[in-house]
Formats: sequence, C-alpha cells, structure tokens
Amino acid sequence: MLKKWLSYFIPINVESVKSKWSKTLEVTWANGQLVLDSRNTNYSYGSLQRILRIGLLKIGFARIKKMDHILVLGVAGGSVVKTLVNEVRFTKKITGVEIDADVITIANTYFELDKVPNLTMILDDAFEFILKTKETYDLIIIDIFQDTKMPNFLFESFFVDRILDVLNRNGVVLFNTMCLTDADNLRNSAYLELFDKNRVSVQTIPRIEAHNELIIVEKKS
Ligand SMILES: C[S@@+](CC[C@H](N)C(=O)[O-])C[C@H]1O[C@@H](n2cnc3c(N)ncnc32)[C@H](O)[C@@H]1O
Repeated sequence: MLKKWLSYFIPINVESVKSKWSKTLEVTWANGQLVLDSRNTNYSYGSLQRILRIGLLKIGFARIKKMDHILVLGVAGGSVVKTLVNEVRFTKKITGVEIDADVITIANTYFELDKVPNLTMILDDAFEFILKTKETYDLIIIDIFQDTKMPNFLFESFFVDRILDVLNRNGVVLFNTMCLTDADNLRNSAYLELFDKNRVSVQTIPRIEAHNELIIVEKKS
C-alpha cells in the first residue's frame, strides 16, 4: 500500500527480469497502478491498455459482448483481457498466445491472470499458433512487440491470409502497431494495401498516442 501511495510521486520498481524477447521485463508501481514495461516501452496497464480500450470501443462493447471466441496474440500482463472481462463483461472463451514464459509467470504473479476463468493461456509463437489452430474466432487482437520492435511476419501476406482464414464472417481484427520512423509509416501504408476490399473493410483509428496506430479489419459476410 505504501509503494502504491509513493508511486504517485515517483515510480517504484518491484521486479526486473532479463528477457530473451523484450530485453528486460519490469513490474513497476506508477501513479498508483501496477504496470508491466519492457526496457523501452509500456507493455500492460498503462498507455497500452488505454490505446486498446479505444480500439474495443470503436468496435463496440455491445457487439463484442455477443461474440463467442476472442483470440489475443501477445498477452503480456493481460490488460486487454482485463478490459474484456471487467469492462466489456465478456464471459465467453478467450484464448491468449504469448511467446515468453517469464511474461506468463509475471502475469500470473502480479496481475492474477490465471484467475480469469474464461481465459486459456498458450505458450507459443503467434506465427506458429496461427498456422496450426483448428478453431475460428470472432475477434483477433494482435498486440505483438519485442520491446519496441514488431516482427516482420505480422506485415506479410502469408500471415494476413491465415488470420483471415481463421476469422469468422463479420469477425474483426484489432491490430496495434508502433510507428517510430518513416519506414514504419510506409510499412503500415503497404500493409493496408494487402487487403482485398471486396472481402474486408479496413480502417485506421486516428492516433491517440503519436507512435501507435490501431488498424481495424472487418470481414464482410
Ligand atoms: C505490448 S505486449 C502485449 C500487451 C497485452 N496485449 C496487454 O493487453 O496487456 C507485447 C507482447 O507480445 C509478446 N510477443 C512478442 N513476440 C511474440 C510472438 N511471436 N508470439 C507471441 N507473443 C509475442 C511479448 O512477449 C509481449 O508480452
């Protein structure tokens, strides 16, 4: 409680772990809230959670609540899972895929993610998972970062096609991207051109934070 109170004045680090994927993983009390950061960016329960909440609001909480199965690629501390469960009141199935076992340990220890009854956590590379999954999904949230870097596979047509294969009709993809350089902006523009507009509608949400761009893809019926 003291740490929480003090964190309104100065961030208080409670655990730092070296990570193969994210350089470091840092659990910190900041402004009265426990957050998870990598070395150079917020991962969970800070600006990241606010950004994804805006994406979910754009899709519509009422619409999401009626869905049957949500896939989250890149779970970290699980802030979007908490938004889905506590704010959207989503009670059906959530599958989370996370590549880093240390992240899952932190998520369970500090953010009690293992107590979310409708969440199934899978330790896997999202690329591998999406190739082999036999299930289909109504909403796919793609939120994959290795510190500030986004793996190239996310922007390749092979992965995009596979995502659309496992997305149900009228299903939605919410893709969180980071644009730090002109090359990243060009990468995003090229990504938007990958989609067949007869099959899907694609929109970007005006940037909330200078470096994040949310992309929403909806599969037509
Ligand atoms: C920004 S965090 C996700 C935040 C999370 N969606 C939330 O709401 O709190 C990015 C996560 O992607 C994970 N990640 C990176 N590469 C991955 C991959 N290839 N497959 C699955 N997860 C990956 C990282 O380990 C990290 O936990």
